[in-house]
Amino acid sequence: MVKICCIGAGYVGGPTMAVIALKCPKIEVAVVDISVSRIAAWNGDQLPIYEPGLEDVVKQCRGRNLFFSTDIEKHVAEADIVFVSVNTPTKTQGLGAGKAADLTYWESAARMIANVSKSNKIVVEKSTVPVKTAEAIEKILTHNSREIKYQILSNPEFLAEGTAIQDLFNPDRVLIGGRETPEGQKAIQALKDVYAHWVPEDRIITTNLWSAELSKLAANAFLAQRISSVNAMSALCEATGADVTQVSHAIGKDTRIGPRFLNSSVGFGGSCFQKDILNLVYICECNGLTEVANYWKQVIKVNDYQKNRFVNRIVSSMFNTVSGKKIAILGFAFKKDTGDTRETPAIDVCKGLLGDKAKLSIYDPQVTEDQIQRDLSMKRFDWDHPIHLQPMSPPASKQVSVVWDAYQAAKDAHGVCILTEWDEFKTLDYQKIFDNMRKPAYIFDGRNILDVEKLREIGFIVYSIGKPLDPWHKDTLAVA
Ligand code: UDX
Ligand code: ADP
Repeated sequence: MVKICCIGAGYVGGPTMAVIALKCPKIEVAVVDISVSRIAAWNGDQLPIYEPGLEDVVKQCRGRNLFFSTDIEKHVAEADIVFVSVNTPTKTQGLGAGKAADLTYWESAARMIANVSKSNKIVVEKSTVPVKTAEAIEKILTHNSREIKYQILSNPEFLAEGTAIQDLFNPDRVLIGGRETPEGQKAIQALKDVYAHWVPEDRIITTNLWSAELSKLAANAFLAQRISSVNAMSALCEATGADVTQVSHAIGKDTRIGPRFLNSSVGFGGSCFQKDILNLVYICECNGLTEVANYWKQVIKVNDYQKNRFVNRIVSSMFNTVSGKKIAILGFAFKKDTGDTRETPAIDVCKGLLGDKAKLSIYDPQVTEDQIQRDLSMKRFDWDHPIHLQPMSPPASKQVSVVWDAYQAAKDAHGVCILTEWDEFKTLDYQKIFDNMRKPAYIFDGRNILDVEKLREIGFIVYSIGKPLDPWHKDTLAVA
C-alpha cells in the first residue's frame, strides 16, 4: 500500500489530503502538524477551517485511510511520498525584509525528513515557495542523509478557499514539476498515478521544476493583476459617471478577456496574492530586472490605494471626521464562504477608521471575536506563522465591539460598510436598518452587492465602488 504523509494541516494540506484519501481508498494518508490544537480539531467535530463540503469528505475517510496526527517523525519515516505544506511567511527582518519568503519552516521540515528517513522518498512542494527552493531543499536532503535517495517535485495547489472541495474534485489542471532525469520522470509518474484516480490525464501537466514553481507565482500575479486593473477602472468610473459593473460586463464579453475575476471590490485579500507578488518582485530584483519588479509592485500599490480610497470616502462624506461615530462593519473575512481573515481588506479599512477614532461594531457570520481582535492588533505579516508561535492575544480594543447580528451592528450607527460579499447581506431588511440608524444614514458597499436605487429610495446616502456617485459624495471629494 502506498503511504502518503503531509506535513502541515492547514488550509491547503487538510482539504487536499482529505480529497486524495477519498478518491484513493487504497492509499493511506497521514496529515501531521506541530500544532496540537489544530490536529485535535481535525480529529474532532468542529474542523479547524470552514470550507463547504469538507466535513462530509473528512467524515467519510477519517479513521479509514485518512489520519491526523502530531507524531510527525513516525509518519514521515513510513511514507513513500511526503507533501510539505508548511507556512512560508514574508520576512520581516534582514535580507529581503518585506518581500522575500522566510523559509525557516520549510528548512526545518526538510532537515527533519533527512533525520528520520530510512527509505527512499519523493518530497513534494505543496506550499508556494520562491523559484529554486526545490534546489535548496534537495541540497539539505542529500547533504544530510546517507544511502537514501530523494526526488523533489513541485506540485503547486491552485484551489481557492470557499470552493476548495469543488476545485480539488474538478481541477482546471494539476501541475507537476520534476527533474528531467530518468529518476525525476519516475517520481513524476508516481505522483501522476495518484491524481489519475480522478483527474483526466489531459489535465495533468508536467514540466521542469522551475517552471512549476514559477507558474504558481505567475498564476496568482495574473489573477491579482486583473483585480487591480478593474479596481483602477473603478476610480475612473467614479470620476466620470461610468458604472464599473457595466464596464466589466462589456469587456468580459470579449472571449479573449473572459468574464471572471473582473468584480471591482474594496481590494483583494487572502494568504496568497500579496505574498506571492512580493516574492515575485524580490526574485526579479535579485535578477536585476528592476522594470519587471516595478510592474508587479504596482498591482499591490493599486490594491493599497483602493483600500485607502474607501476609508477616505467614508471619512470625507461624514464631514471629514468619524471620531466617536459608530460605524457598522458587515463582513470581515477576505471573501464569502470562508472564515479566513488572512490579509483581508477589512483589516486595513478598520485600522484606517480606528486611526480616525471611529467606534466599530463588527459582524461576520464565520469569524470569531478573538480572531478579529488579534487581526486588528497584529503587526504586518505576523499572521503567517504557526498559531502557537504568534503573539498572544492583546487586550481587546475599546473602540471595537464584535456582535452576532447585522441589525445589532447597525443599530444607532452613522454608517454601514459592506466589506465581504456574504449572501445574507443581500437580503437584509434595509428599511429596518435605516429606521434604527443615526441620520444622515450612510451605506458604503465595498463589494457592489446591494441595490443602490432601492437604498436611495429608503433614504440612505449610498456609495458603491465604481458606480455613479450620489450628489452628496460629489460635493465631498476624498483627498488623502
Ligand atoms: C487564490 C487563487 O485563486 C488560488 O488559485 C490560489 O491557490 C490561492 O489564491 P483565494 O485566495 O482562496 O485563492 O481566493 P480568490 O477567490 O482568488 O480571491 C482572492 C481575493 O480577490 C479575495 O479577497 C476576493 O474577494 C478578491 N476578488 C476576487 C475580487 O476582489 N474581485 C474578483 O473579481 C475576484
Ligand atoms: P496554508 O494556507 O499554506 O495551508 P497554513 O498556515 O494554513 O498554510 O498551514 C500551515 C501549517 O503548517 C500550520 O498548521 C503549521 O502549524 C504547520 N507547520 C509549520 N511548520 C511545521 C513543521 N515543521 N512541522 C509540522 N507542521 C508545521
